[in-house]
Amino acid sequence: MSAFATWFGRPERLARTLVVEHEGRLVGDLMLRVEDGWAQLDTAGAAAGVQAELGWVLDPAYAGRGLATEAVEALLTICFDDLGLRRVSANCFAGNTASWRLMERVGMRREAHRVADSLHRDLGWVDSYDYALLAEERTGGAVPLRDDARRGATTPPAG
Ligand SMILES: CC(C)(COP(=O)(O)OP(=O)(O)OC[C@H]1O[C@@H](n2cnc3c(N)ncnc32)[C@H](O)[C@@H]1OP(=O)(O)O)[C@@H](O)C(=O)NCCC(=O)NCCS
Repeated sequence: MSAFATWFGRPERLARTLVVEHEGRLVGDLMLRVEDGWAQLDTAGAAAGVQAELGWVLDPAYAGRGLATEAVEALLTICFDDLGLRRVSANCFAGNTASWRLMERVGMRREAHRVADSLHRDLGWVDSYDYALLAEERTGGAVPLRDDARRGATTPPAG
């Protein structure tokens, strides 16, 4: 078994992985990691398991048709409607335009621009963006891109 298959097949990894199928083919995967919200010690119980970190990968051969958007929309339905989570978050290299445009298409808000906090194998330490969405902010469908996203503004080197 390859090193990748061994790493990917770890039970703890599979437990937080959903696969994306299109016309009978496996075209991507999603990460759903349920976690605790930050809380003071005496309120920690109420913050247990109330939020999730999300992630996604799509086979490049299937990019550019809205499949990832559809998959992440379905993931948000699982998070908010099925699991009853109050908040989801995700992050990416600031240069990963496809990823943050996807987040904005599904209605996530940019919450932070972190400066030189993430190590890229080729680019060294680069900026990253944090995005999030609260249950009450959900519109229930992909939203139009913000103007700056549509123009592709604020895009450092690709990540
Ligand atoms: C991030 C990633 C999943 C985005 O893939 P994607 O193909 O851009 O996303 P979608 O499948 O939703 O397609 C959206 C694109 O198709 C277009 N599109 C065409 N038909 C569409 C439809 N019916 N609905 C929505 N978008 C549609 C959109 O306009 C968009 O293109 P644009 O960004 O040029 O405007 C992909 O780039 C990827 O796997 N990257 C590598 C892994 C990665 O970086 N993961 C994130 C780590 S933090």
